[in-house]
Amino acid sequence: MRDHLIIFDTTLRDGEQSPGASMTKEEKVRIARQLERMGVDVIEAGFPAASNGDFEAVKAVADTVKDSTVCGLARAIEADIIRAGEALRGANVARIHTFIATSPIHMKNKLRMSPEQVIEQAVKAIKWARQYTDNVEFSPEDAGRSEISFLCRVLEAVIDAGAKTLNIPDTVGYTMPDQFGQLIRTLRERIPNSDKVVFSVHCHNDLGLAVANSLSAVMNGARQVECTINGLGERAGNAALEEIVMAVRTRQDFFTCDTRIDTTHIVPASKLVSGITGFPVQPNKAIVGANAFAHESGIHQDGVLKHRETYEIMRAEDVGWGTNKLLLGKHSGRNAFRTRLKELGIELESEEMLNIMFMRFKDLADKKHEIFDEDLHALASDEVHAPEEHYRLLSLIAHSETGEVPFARVVIADGNNELHAESDGSGPVDATYRAIEKILNSGADLQLFSVNNITSGTDAQGEVTVRLQKTGRIVNGHGADTDIVVASAKAYLSALNKLYSKLERAHPQV
Ligand code: KIV
Ligand code: ZN
Repeated sequence: MRDHLIIFDTTLRDGEQSPGASMTKEEKVRIARQLERMGVDVIEAGFPAASNGDFEAVKAVADTVKDSTVCGLARAIEADIIRAGEALRGANVARIHTFIATSPIHMKNKLRMSPEQVIEQAVKAIKWARQYTDNVEFSPEDAGRSEISFLCRVLEAVIDAGAKTLNIPDTVGYTMPDQFGQLIRTLRERIPNSDKVVFSVHCHNDLGLAVANSLSAVMNGARQVECTINGLGERAGNAALEEIVMAVRTRQDFFTCDTRIDTTHIVPASKLVSGITGFPVQPNKAIVGANAFAHESGIHQDGVLKHRETYEIMRAEDVGWGTNKLLLGKHSGRNAFRTRLKELGIELESEEMLNIMFMRFKDLADKKHEIFDEDLHALASDEVHAPEEHYRLLSLIAHSETGEVPFARVVIADGNNELHAESDGSGPVDATYRAIEKILNSGADLQLFSVNNITSGTDAQGEVTVRLQKTGRIVNGHGADTDIVVASAKAYLSALNKLYSKLERAHPQV
């Protein structure tokens, strides 16, 4: 019998620590439901002590998800652990993940604690966490640069205190695959009580080695991998879930373990996370990139047509390519619409919200005949937040013609007031943004503007992501529409709404 490799997804926590990837509570719940559907064992939903917004999001995920363990991160301090315990109260199975740094550089310069104090604090943290749950995970932060005998001492002490999972992070993505695998083997061999815990790994991708390091650790006995959809995460990101899962699944001749992931949900999960965060997936990205299964050269095409396995080691449909069901057309009824939303994990708070969404769906179906799951996710992202939004786009006229100066006129609702402005610009989007700025005068710095088509074809909805920065806060806004200038205006206003919202979190890392 194969060992079970536990998949611990941290898209909603480490993934969210990517600058600009912050997600709302509702977005986190939507992603969490997709992860649950996929069969992820543990979902790290956030860092409850980081902010009220993070606390509420972890609580909402804990109250919603039933089939996966829901985990909250906490520093090894009592106040953080209390917040995590409270946020996770509604979970079917809750886990508290507590951490403290163990490398000389972190202990001396960041924590300003002696090694003995670090051990003492780690043990206390496990005891505090166990007042809420027996399912406690401990991470010695920056383990990749920690001294091995000290690491063994800390880990032995936390096992004695009741930790059930020991997660070994390569926090700065510094280690090499053989070295990291050897580290896991050595810890398992040298720590006397190591048989009482599951060894986990959490690798960062600063040198592009997060997946290789994680797999090397699995070869050396790690039985949990922490990873994120699309490899999202702090700096260069974390190990990509899709790559870990498919490497282990494809090379069953090599690995003695397997995951319980239903891989056909991988591509929809990737698109959902990319759509919500606005982080596009590069075309040549393994598994989930648009070109991952595209054969361009004649020799390859010929080979694949004659016998698929000549050039394909995985089947596109096994990871969810082409499974986004063709939904309803403009003749579809409300019930079918409601059912599909439910299947996609899109919960609407009221009947009124469903009516608004349904009207938007009909409008879209008039413009675009085939509507896919991604279109519905984009509609939901637009509509679910609409009632909370202070500024809304009421109308937009944008004009561009060769040889003429582009021009835009916008009307924005500011609470109950209507505000009008017009401007020219270097293109219709620039003119629109200038007009909005004439009204709102935000002074925000536009850091990113990206347009992606949600599905294929020239009638597809364009999804625009805008990242704004003001006084150290970074927010992302999204807008979708078959008209990309309208989508651009919506995205800009959505980012401005977040910038002005008191509830929106600053960068959640503490
Ligand atoms: O990278 C890291 O060390 C972390 C820990 C909190 C596990 O994210
Ligand atoms: Zn990390």
